[in-house]
Amino acid sequence: MKNFLIFSFIFLTFNALSQSKIDVPQQFALVAQQYEGMLKSHQDITKTPQSTLPDGLPRDMPTEWWCSGFFGGSLWYLFEQTKDPQWKSAAEKWTMAVEKEQYNTRTHDLGFMLYCPFGNGYRLTQNPDYKKIMLTGAKSLATRFNPKYGVIKSWDKHDTYDYPVIIDNMMNLEFLFWAARESGDKAFYDICIAHADSTLKHHFRPDGSSYHVICYGENGKIIRKKTHQGYADESAWARGQAWGLYGYVVMYRETKQKKYLDQAQKIAKFYLNHPNLPKDKIPYWDFNAPYIPNEERDASAAAVTASALLELSKIVGGKQGKKYFKNAEEMLVSLSSDTYRAKIGTNNNFILMHSTGHKPGKSEIDVPLVYADYYYLEGLLRYQALVKK
Ligand code: GLY
Repeated sequence: MKNFLIFSFIFLTFNALSQSKIDVPQQFALVAQQYEGMLKSHQDITKTPQSTLPDGLPRDMPTEWWCSGFFGGSLWYLFEQTKDPQWKSAAEKWTMAVEKEQYNTRTHDLGFMLYCPFGNGYRLTQNPDYKKIMLTGAKSLATRFNPKYGVIKSWDKHDTYDYPVIIDNMMNLEFLFWAARESGDKAFYDICIAHADSTLKHHFRPDGSSYHVICYGENGKIIRKKTHQGYADESAWARGQAWGLYGYVVMYRETKQKKYLDQAQKIAKFYLNHPNLPKDKIPYWDFNAPYIPNEERDASAAAVTASALLELSKIVGGKQGKKYFKNAEEMLVSLSSDTYRAKIGTNNNFILMHSTGHKPGKSEIDVPLVYADYYYLEGLLRYQALVKK
């Protein structure tokens, strides 16, 4: 009996691990080498790594920029994987770089800016200062919620519209759920529900795809449905679909309400079955971009989607869960290949190549993006946790 149990344990362990198509520790070793270069080239913490400029030089941004927290967040993922104190001190430094944004009430992006660095830092270290900073930040974010409209205002203006809400805004709710739990203030929780319900009602088309920008008018009336970073108002901007998917997976995790899980699965179905999704599962920057296949890819959308699908696969389980897992795995395999993962010392020290930030704005086209790296690392960690089970 004892021998049988030992044999079964070895067999099951071997079987689970042998199913892994990505050597996560090896990928992290490469990431560590690449980010050593990033740390060397970035000594000034007021200039956060963002991307590459058209002339090939690094594009750095001030901490007010919506992406300022991703580098610190990625450094925490590196520490989580390697347990190397070198990454912990780097993560601490780049996390504190965005400290002052806790008072920023001019943006809805505080989830990205604060929860990615401070949230991961707090999860891994329980540093009470991080908690304090995040609770102040959550209050700042909550000031952008107007109960008469029922949604958090994304930008202060879009064209002539005064209350625009973008699908990306779903990504800030995880931060407010955290704040509700830690502070005991249910108001944060209620904001998440109101925002997600309005978004569910107004942002989606019958096929599960989403608009980018909804322009709300007085008392929450819908005035226009538009795009900003997508190809057209009626197109499906790839990263927007990824933000929506990730956002509704979080909504289900936090509330266990079936309608959110249904929405997440609807988005996943749209995305995974789309005839324009390439074989390597890295989407074009917009599913309806006019010159497919001669259009740029968006590795960042793939990284966000892979990470979200891995959580969805765990929630759903069974055959469907396996399907989500397999798709996420294929995305991570592609991202880990030479086609998307940069050679050490190239790509301005970012990990991934071939993302697209804002094509209609002629900005950040076919470049590295700091958030592509962040969600790629998160996806690798989630993948490793599932494969090891
Ligand atoms: N949240 C802005 C973007 O996805 O580009």
